[in-house]
Amino acid sequence: MENKLRNTNLNNKIHSGKVRDIYSLDENLLLFVATDRISAFDVIMNEVVPSKGIILNNLSAFWFNQLENTKTHFVSKGENFDFSKYTNFQDLDKKILHRSTVVKKAKRIDMECVVRGYITGSAWVEYKNKGTMNEMSLPEGILEAQRFEKPIFTPSTKASEGHDEPLSSQAGKKLIGDKLYEQLEEISIDLYIKAHDFCENKGIILADTKFEFGIIDNEIILIDEVLTPDSSRFWKKDDYSEGNSPNPYDKQFLRDWLNQQDWNKTPPPPSIPNEVINNTLGRYLEIYELLTNDKLNI
Ligand SMILES: Nc1ncnc2c1ncn2[C@@H]1O[C@H](COP(=O)(O)OP(=O)(O)O)[C@@H](O)[C@H]1O
Ligand SMILES: [Mg+2]
Repeated sequence: MENKLRNTNLNNKIHSGKVRDIYSLDENLLLFVATDRISAFDVIMNEVVPSKGIILNNLSAFWFNQLENTKTHFVSKGENFDFSKYTNFQDLDKKILHRSTVVKKAKRIDMECVVRGYITGSAWVEYKNKGTMNEMSLPEGILEAQRFEKPIFTPSTKASEGHDEPLSSQAGKKLIGDKLYEQLEEISIDLYIKAHDFCENKGIILADTKFEFGIIDNEIILIDEVLTPDSSRFWKKDDYSEGNSPNPYDKQFLRDWLNQQDWNKTPPPPSIPNEVINNTLGRYLEIYELLTNDKLNI
């Protein structure tokens, strides 16, 4: 039976993001519901990827549990949380619970903390056109998908509308302040290295990823989703080679298809064939299973 969820409509909704619907449980806690919506180039597609929200919800929860020395917003998966105190959230449907996480409310820092271990995606496009990445000059002769000597922090704006733009370190520091910028750079690179090592042991390359952070009680907290195929690029070690366009186990599969269409990346998006939807879902599920050794009942 196909399991699809595009929108949710519970009480106390405070925000609908491109993928998640967010509810206020009380003054400190949020209920995060990952729907099956999918966005690409910051545009939400008309189609959903059935069960994607379940995969993202469980994979993020898996990582939050792995990253035990990091301060995160994670409290509990929805299915393990006791909602009895929360009158607006009694008897939640399984369909919602499987896609939900209870998290601590944070004051979001409006910068996307991207870390790249390999050159691909928009960074590869910028390098090919201008020889730079986030305005920083790179040496000549770098190949597509080549690994950097060290992972590089390439943050971008968190645009409330339209496209996120890459930030030079100077622009990033201007946006959030030098000290906070340097702290986020250090934490993000450290998290990337840990996650990259973990993936490598499973035969997977974590090419790049995006973290978000917030502040709770003056402390920097890892928020949002983490290390999912919506926010990261995953390749298989077995079919990776420098100089070639990698086979993506993440949202890049959809982006690649969209790049072949005659579309200017503003709404409305083109209709996505079932085959592309199913193939995307299959790739997300494969990454989930390889990383967690778990089978999802979807
Ligand atoms: N702990 C938190 N407190 C407050 N806001 C958060 C927290 N974690 C994530 N967020 C925000 O909630 C939203 C998650 O929904 P999502 O669909 O991913 O939105 P987006 O379209 O911005 O990617 C994002 O805007 C994210 O910055
Ligand atoms: Mg998001």
